[in-house]
Amino acid sequence: MLQSRSPQRPDELVLEVEETSAGEVTGAVRRSREAAAAWASAPAMERSAALVAAAEALAAAAGEVTDLMVREVGKPVTEAAAEVGRGVGILRYYAQQVLDPDGETYPGPGPAALLLSRRRPRGVAGLITPWNFPVAIPLWKAAPALAFGNGVVLKAASEATALAMRLAELLSPTLPDGLFQVVPGSAATATALIGRADCVSFTGSVEVGRQVAVAATARGIPCQAEMGGLNASIVLPDANPARAAATIAGAAMAYAGQKCTATSRAIVVGDPGPFTEALLAAVERLPVGDPAEQRTVVGPVINEPARRAVVEAAEAAAATGARVLAGGRAGDGEGWFVAPTLVDRLAPDAYLAQEEVFGPIAVVLPVADEDEAVAVANGVRYGLVGSVFTRDLDRALAVAARLDTGMIRVNAPTSGVDYLAPFGGEKDSSFGPREQGKAAREFYTSTRTITILPEEG
Ligand code: UN1
Repeated sequence: MLQSRSPQRPDELVLEVEETSAGEVTGAVRRSREAAAAWASAPAMERSAALVAAAEALAAAAGEVTDLMVREVGKPVTEAAAEVGRGVGILRYYAQQVLDPDGETYPGPGPAALLLSRRRPRGVAGLITPWNFPVAIPLWKAAPALAFGNGVVLKAASEATALAMRLAELLSPTLPDGLFQVVPGSAATATALIGRADCVSFTGSVEVGRQVAVAATARGIPCQAEMGGLNASIVLPDANPARAAATIAGAAMAYAGQKCTATSRAIVVGDPGPFTEALLAAVERLPVGDPAEQRTVVGPVINEPARRAVVEAAEAAAATGARVLAGGRAGDGEGWFVAPTLVDRLAPDAYLAQEEVFGPIAVVLPVADEDEAVAVANGVRYGLVGSVFTRDLDRALAVAARLDTGMIRVNAPTSGVDYLAPFGGEKDSSFGPREQGKAAREFYTSTRTITILPEEG
């Protein structure tokens, strides 16, 4: 039996459901593939209208889905509501992309000849998604997959199963029977799905993402995997310390830092004093508490091992001579709360400076100059987002151009994603083509090249 529990009240069972067996996954993929055949050949206007209706169904249920997100994964309500709004936006956006040109024409061998390329769906997209963005991530994969004519079978993280099942209830009535299905389960269910889908899109840890990529590649099907991050914000000497600190504190700690886009490292060029002081003050100002309260920015982490990982990382850093400026301890009382944690005076090769701890923890790394800032920022195996804080556009462009990350932000938090633009990272952070925006079509379709000649001449 698969159970999902509320992180703020672990005694509260949100959902208990049977895991989907391998045989049931086979059936789900078969039904989705059958539905997809008719869906792909339906007029584009019809597919677009169905996705608009799906957006409307989610918008109408926004309050209730937001509350479920607060309850099931402990996301603070203001952020949860924004994520549901983003989900509605994603559905509307891809509903319109259905109507975009679906190919290109090329110069043919004669004036009446046609040489064309057209996009066609892959079949059934197998989606494996994490608990931290339980509406936005399933939708930024499912919406383009459906828009371009595929079926979808979704295996969400077990911690977010209730939300995934609610999404299916809301979306299914607007779509052909069986086209979009959720298969509750854990690793065995995901493995079965990879074994039957026509392409696989994954978001989660590097360790699991690598296994997904190997299994999909062994079957010869397209795969994309979005994995970890250890995102750096470089603060140049001319940046306003209080403004940079407020942005970085939020990017590091909001939703208890449980984002692959969270800031884990603040790299400070020159005297680190004023910025470190401002960051400490900004972190201590962040409201920690019940995620159901409007003002809360930092709620609990997802479960007990996640909380232990943060506390142990701070303790291990302190044992090697680092300074724990804030936090480093579990909260009192019920729920998996852990105080926002800030650490400095570590060696650049220290564990916390090299590895992702998925929680509200960040380090401050002082450096002498821009060259060292770039070397430290790039000196990790991840490459998702990098940011630079400065008032000097020349410096911002020069530093940003040298960062090995898939996304660059200037005077902006590393967290937060625009669904209309390509999303993805370098190095261990990503595998395969980008997702979101117009890039999604590359993954969920293949190209067919067509030559048409006049019969005579
Ligand atoms: C965001 O920062 O709004 O799993 C989204 C993650 C990322 C998504 C981040 N793939 O945290």
